[in-house]
Amino acid sequence: MPAASSPVPSQPKGSALPTHVAIIMDGNGRWARQRGLPRIEGHRRGVETVRAIIDATRELGIRYLTLYAFSVENWNRPQDEVGALMGLLEYFLKRETKTLVKNRVRLLTIGRTHELPAVVRNQLEVAMKATAKFTENTLVLALNYGARTEVVDAARAYAAAVAAGKEKLNDSSWATFSRYLYTADLPDPDLVIRTSGETRVSNFLLLQGAYAEFIFSPVLWPDFTKADLATACAEFGRRERRYGQTSEQLKLAGTASSR
Ligand code: IPE
Ligand code: IPE
Ligand code: MG
Repeated sequence: MPAASSPVPSQPKGSALPTHVAIIMDGNGRWARQRGLPRIEGHRRGVETVRAIIDATRELGIRYLTLYAFSVENWNRPQDEVGALMGLLEYFLKRETKTLVKNRVRLLTIGRTHELPAVVRNQLEVAMKATAKFTENTLVLALNYGARTEVVDAARAYAAAVAAGKEKLNDSSWATFSRYLYTADLPDPDLVIRTSGETRVSNFLLLQGAYAEFIFSPVLWPDFTKADLATACAEFGRRERRYGQTSEQLKLAGTASSR
């Protein structure tokens, strides 16, 4: 039987802390509705949570944080909400760049960012340039992101590379193809958290999350705190990631490597 391709764990074996946490930040609208406020107020409060969680991630020692901020499907929301979200994004980037530099956090994006408004693109460029040299912590914003469009973009780029003779179709493997995804230089997420009690993936990191642990928190994103993140990490640490093997195999390998 041919050996199955083994997913490469981004988290070092035996480590209780995820290297890469990805969050589907959900529940801003419901947070606002519960208070009789317009949805945009929920998004404003959501931005404050983003700032707090970036700090919390660093403090907890998590090196990579990906935040799902705007999906390709979110363009279908009412125009004024989309406009307000873009405005908030611009405001966040303007305000946050200095802090990211001070805290040595590199900013990256995944998604079709070329389709974002020019003002947002410009702010993104400024922030990414200012933080490009940092290696300790990485913040990835998923903007105009969709896993299916990512696959289409990657397939197109891969096909072009094959046509140009840079890749050989016969050598195709996950290792080669995955270099054409937006996440080429990032480790796979170890832990994916979705807030607000929804238990779906909504087109987020479908391939990269193939072996991620999922935690669904009932907390609405504006109320999500460092303590909630720490609780999720603790739960993550109690899980056994088996990658297709048996629990016994993992235990044997663990005793062998600790000898
Ligand atoms: C998440 O909150 C923010 C974005 C998707 C941009 P929602 O706006 O989806 O909040 P709910 O799901 O309506 O409560
Ligand atoms: C997912 O949340 C997208 C982001 C968090 C940016 P949605 O609120 O858009 O997802 P659905 O529509 O409930 O699946
Ligand atoms: Mg939602």
